[in-house]
Amino acid sequence: MTSIARAHPNSARPLLVTRDAALLEDVVRIAATVGLELDVYPEAPAARELWPLAPTVLVGEDAAGALVAAGVPRRADVVLFGTDLDDADIWERAVRLGAGQVVFLPDAEEWLAEVFADLVEGKPESAPVIGVVGGRGGAGATTLAVGLSVTAARQGRRVVVVDADPLGGGIDLVIGGETSSGLRWPDLAGTSGRVSSRALLEALPTTGDLTVLSWDRGDALSIPPTAMEALLPAAQRGADLVVVDLPRRFDEAAARAADRASMVLLVVPAEVRAAAAASRVAASVAGHCADVRLVVRGPAPGRLDAGVVAESIGLPLAGYLRPEPGLSAALERGDAPAARGRGPLAAFCTAFVSALDLTAPRTAA
Ligand SMILES: Nc1ncnc2c1ncn2[C@@H]1O[C@H](COP(=O)(O)OP(=O)(O)OP(=O)(O)O)[C@@H](O)[C@H]1O
Ligand SMILES: [Mg+2]
Repeated sequence: MTSIARAHPNSARPLLVTRDAALLEDVVRIAATVGLELDVYPEAPAARELWPLAPTVLVGEDAAGALVAAGVPRRADVVLFGTDLDDADIWERAVRLGAGQVVFLPDAEEWLAEVFADLVEGKPESAPVIGVVGGRGGAGATTLAVGLSVTAARQGRRVVVVDADPLGGGIDLVIGGETSSGLRWPDLAGTSGRVSSRALLEALPTTGDLTVLSWDRGDALSIPPTAMEALLPAAQRGADLVVVDLPRRFDEAAARAADRASMVLLVVPAEVRAAAAASRVAASVAGHCADVRLVVRGPAPGRLDAGVVAESIGLPLAGYLRPEPGLSAALERGDAPAARGRGPLAAFCTAFVSALDLTAPRTAA
């Protein structure tokens, strides 16, 4: 048994607080299978320093009371290990500690192994989420979401594209991946809690270089917000960029996605009525994301200036997107927008993705 109590705590290691030798042995063994070391403290007061810093906090039920007494700050991601499934007190202890999860070994062994694998394989920083939403129906939001994703993938980034629009017709149709096998929203609607990013990325369909979370061809259903809350962080841990195609009628799941977005792009055709409609969409997005920017899309039949559109909606302008020649024909052929790296959309997306300052590509572009 390896007990690794460190003089200089390393915040990259999970923290385990317990005196229970059997639990310690089990958890250290599971961590060792993925080459992970733990910071182990038998005493609650000694664990206090590391408590807010550790990426994951694991607590044996023997230590729960002492931790509460020591006044550790609340963390929703604390995992409490119970020893007896029939012991009702464990739930009360969990509430007092603020533990988000109560688990029992050996039942939770596989789950714990995945949590540890995530810590080893996942990057310390998670990928940014960029939301894209249309200012009116058919604005070009899905086209831009795919353009950004395809462009980032061409640069060697791992990209997860999330279709959060139940009525959008399926982003996989635009990417050309509707026949790829893998899980889709209806399969994942019941997901909640912590999801392994490795398991998620392996389970989702891939098309070309993109990993896609989209719909099947069945009846549309809404995405439970708990599923969005569980799946987005897992996608962020496993990818370099997450792009979410948001619905104009903002539902709860869209709100949860926008909450996690570092930026939302609002696509507005350069038309007076589109600008008026976009103001309403802007209002519903604004409550969830502090950085909403406009993409004004041509053609501009009335020669409406992009700056004027931005001013009337009251949002900063991310740019003017010239109309893409041959887009409709390309979509009918099943060619993803911007896939060839040429044209106004690819140019816009290249400039936008380059400015995101993503982590260095892992494959040659
Ligand atoms: N960059 C562009 N250049 C020219 N036409 C475009 C562009 N983007 C979209 N369009 C046109 O608008 C149509 C709708 O595009 P898209 O599906 O991307 O819009 P959306 O905002 O996602 O619509 P929805 O309201 O259905 O979600 C496309 O089929 C195409 O004809
Ligand atoms: Mg759409």
